[in-house]
Amino acid sequence: MFIMAIATPIAFSTTFLVEAIALKIGLQAAKASNLANVLVETDCRMLYEVVTNLSSPLPASAKELIKEIRDLFSEGNFQLNWNYREANYGADSLATFAAHMVETMTWDTTLDQENRLQNGWMLPKYSSVWNVTPPPFLGRWLNHDIMNVCKRRMTSR
Ligand SMILES: *[C@@H]1O[C@H](CO)[C@@H](O)[C@H](O)[C@H]1NC(C)=O
Repeated sequence: MFIMAIATPIAFSTTFLVEAIALKIGLQAAKASNLANVLVETDCRMLYEVVTNLSSPLPASAKELIKEIRDLFSEGNFQLNWNYREANYGADSLATFAAHMVETMTWDTTLDQENRLQNGWMLPKYSSVWNVTPPPFLGRWLNHDIMNVCKRRMTSR
């Protein structure tokens, strides 16, 4: 069953920060939707490490953000897993959509311009949200998930 998809332009310079902010938005969305028993998948190894390993050193630029994410995980039955990028094409397609979207408009780079939704859930401006029906470009990857389609690794790692 499809529940929700979000594509958000995030104006930060490092991949790590973008991954961390996307994770926080996703967790807040799941909470605002009252979802329980959520399995979260990331293809960012470093993000997985710092969120799940409480003794791993936090990057200075993301200390508060990682703490917020850890708190969000500790509040519900949420679990974070790491997976290969090839297993995460659905998220990839949403990121590509957000990237194309910002090419066609001028947009603010401040995160404090947010839309306040239910339960205090803040969604950055210019986010796209799909409920009930996934966007067409995502349907293909959701079908692959449902049918357990295997992907080859793109690199040897
Ligand atoms: C957690 O992080 C610490 C510090 O970086 C490291 O020494 C330890 O091996 C890590 N634990 C696991 C289970 O990866």
